[in-house]
Amino acid sequence: MLRRLHSEQPDSFAFTPENQEWAEAQITKYPEGRQASAIIPLLWRAQEQEGWLSKLAIEYVADMLGMAYIRALEVATFYFMFQLRPVGSVAHIQVCGTTSCMICGGEDLIGICREKIAPNPHELSKDGKFSWEEVECLGACSNAPMAQIGKDYYEDLTAARLSEIIDELLAGKVPTPGPQNGRYTSEPASGLTSLAAHEKGRDPLNASARLAADIGDTVKRIDGTEVPLLAPWGKQSSAGLPKEAARPKPANAAKKAPAEKPAAKKPAAKKAAAKPVSRKPKSNE
Ligand code: FES
Repeated sequence: MLRRLHSEQPDSFAFTPENQEWAEAQITKYPEGRQASAIIPLLWRAQEQEGWLSKLAIEYVADMLGMAYIRALEVATFYFMFQLRPVGSVAHIQVCGTTSCMICGGEDLIGICREKIAPNPHELSKDGKFSWEEVECLGACSNAPMAQIGKDYYEDLTAARLSEIIDELLAGKVPTPGPQNGRYTSEPASGLTSLAAHEKGRDPLNASARLAADIGDTVKRIDGTEVPLLAPWGKQSSAGLPKEAARPKPANAAKKAPAEKPAAKKPAAKKAAAKPVSRKPKSNE
């Protein structure tokens, strides 16, 4: 697929102050001269903020990292996770079209996207609120067919359920991520045959779905005010960041073994007398 910058570009790009601070903290993770290593997280944050990557956003990130624009452009156009054209203002739906999903109904999901959103992938719906694309395997094959919507996975989908999900998103709701057919994770559809005791009293959502539901930012654009900046590797100036002393320590932190002294260096063995080794084959005499 040809990946190039969109024909219509915005007039400006800037990180929000909070995202700017987050981005600057990311750069401190890398040693002097290696700032370009932060290219992917910074481009990703720009996309989380705007929904897609404009030319100016890519150049802005390149300037922050002291990179030539073409180098940043190469990264943005190489990885399919970067959207190079505007996506729906409410949600961009990524339907898996690889084998497991395809044979379990993925094409029906794509049919719903064509019907309810737009006939072609990467095309905005008429109201500009949704867009969709077909993607390669998202690693949730045992819960096929599935789609990623914003940041979360919606698994064990049917065309009818995906249609409902789109309606719920349009109504401003965030449908609960995870399996949509009552499965807990990827156990047999007919129910557990072993370790069934685990079912008693458990959270109806598995850990991933619970975390996603609790965070609730499935389709939210990230402006940097959502969570305190965590930058334990260096600069820590973000509001809300717990002070070092107040931060919970890992259980085993108190018993940390004293750092081992570096083993004394053995003097290098004296080199054998600098007698040149003959590489001549031995004679058969
Ligand atoms: S084939 Fe769809 S998630 Fe793997």
